[in-house]
Amino acid sequence: MTANSNSWVLVTGASSGFGEEFARQYAAQGRPLVLVARRLEKLQALARELRERHGVDVIVEQVDLSAITAVVELHKRLRERGIAIDVLINNAGHGWQGPFVDASLDKAMAMLDLDVAGMTAVTRLFAEDMRARRHGQILMVASLLAYQGVQNFAVYSAAKAYVLRLAEALHRELERDGVTVTALNPGMSNTGFAAAAQQQITPMLKLMMMQPAPVVRAGIRALEAGRISVVPGWGNKAFVFFTWATPRRLHQAVAARVIGARPKSRSAAGRTHLLSCASGMAR
Ligand SMILES: NC(=O)c1ccc[n+]([C@@H]2O[C@H](COP(=O)([O-])OP(=O)(O)OC[C@H]3O[C@@H](n4cnc5c(N)ncnc54)[C@H](OP(=O)(O)O)[C@@H]3O)[C@@H](O)[C@H]2O)c1
Repeated sequence: MTANSNSWVLVTGASSGFGEEFARQYAAQGRPLVLVARRLEKLQALARELRERHGVDVIVEQVDLSAITAVVELHKRLRERGIAIDVLINNAGHGWQGPFVDASLDKAMAMLDLDVAGMTAVTRLFAEDMRARRHGQILMVASLLAYQGVQNFAVYSAAKAYVLRLAEALHRELERDGVTVTALNPGMSNTGFAAAAQQQITPMLKLMMMQPAPVVRAGIRALEAGRISVVPGWGNKAFVFFTWATPRRLHQAVAARVIGARPKSRSAAGRTHLLSCASGMAR
């Protein structure tokens, strides 16, 4: 029995992308896992593989985290089984690229139900248990888009700004109770996200694209080091620095270009000279 073999890790959104990679990296540490998502067969296949390869306990939970009653039930089921979650990887989320008014109201609300409400509910329930035990770690997966409102990713970038702010606030609030909260802010990465979000992959995004493994490694390292947040990758760090250092209109125009949003109007298209944006525009 290793030091980690009784320290449970719960990963939301474990059926693909970052979540699957978190499960692999924690299993390699010998940690028992609770894997949560909606696609049961994918979770079961991953669980089988991790049990065989690393000899760890893996529990699979098919849950739609956008339904708060289902989140409450999940928490109750684990409690009843005596499973105390020491590490919570709050990762499940989805986005949608397109003009705000073109998405149905249902689509926008579904994004908020998962990315904001579901994320908050999962955090609230498991943080209370961690506080009572006076130890625990929570990683909240936000995004590079959390640092600004992004054209054609309006609801998603606003939702991720919420996640980043929630993580920052909880980092201070729960620190004294022995619970670490860290925000992970990835940029464009090679997961199922782009397909699910119907995202356009521009040449610039292709250039910035990271693989899930180094992103997840950076997240785990930051969480273990007790950091408030982390942006993986030098290109992404430079992007955040650019956001801090430039007027809002400039970095918004650049972000819109990078992610392939259409210019605001024909006349705007004619003058999308970013340097001219820089002069004379205040935040
Ligand atoms: N990849 C990127 O470029 C990127 C960049 C910045 C931030 N992020 C963030 O990273 C996180 C993980 O995304 P990813 O890139 O790994 O994309 P992904 O491969 O599409 O994974 C998303 C995961 O969330 C789960 N999920 C979606 N809706 C759910 C629901 N209602 N209930 C439970 N689970 C649900 C999915 O599983 P099921 O479909 O089986 O439920 C899947 O496991 C998200 O929060 C995303 O916003 C991604």
